[in-house]
Amino acid sequence: MRINKRLLLTGVLTSFVLSANAGVMTDTTDNKLDQYRGQGAENFSPEAGLELWRSDNNGRSCTQCHGANPTDVGKHAKTGKVIKPMAPSVNPKRLTDSKKIDKWFLRNCKWTLKRECTSQEKGDFLVWLREQ
Ligand code: HEC
Repeated sequence: MRINKRLLLTGVLTSFVLSANAGVMTDTTDNKLDQYRGQGAENFSPEAGLELWRSDNNGRSCTQCHGANPTDVGKHAKTGKVIKPMAPSVNPKRLTDSKKIDKWFLRNCKWTLKRECTSQEKGDFLVWLREQ
């Protein structure tokens, strides 16, 4: 009886630890990267992500609203509204909501680049930003 209880407890603890680990290992960013791979993108590069962030596109840039440094507060170029820092290290809510990421990539790429970002560009950007 005693041994059985112990086994049961060990089993419960093991599955708890395993599921907690699984939660850490497949975060939202990983899921997005898988999605982009499914669309043909590969070998995501943080350097390319940083380049996109800084690039000047006929006077428009991601940094115009978000600021040059992703750990700083940004300011919307048109409305002047404050935008919370993009870096997950100071703003843990970033890159946790897939729908939010889709929505803002669509809007912001269209505003900045006058076109949608490719799956490659989005993946490059996310692997850069997730480390900030
Ligand atoms: C015209 C202003 C503006 C520009 C330019 C802009 N953004 Fe944004 N961005 C916003 C606003 C507003 C939000 C949503 C408010 C918030 O999340 O604080 C946002 C949110 C985001 C998010 C959602 C992040 C999350 O998980 O919360 C991503 C990703 C993003 N922007 C990427 C980009 C990229 C990449 C560029 C350049 C191609 C860019 N943005 C340029 C205004 C802008």
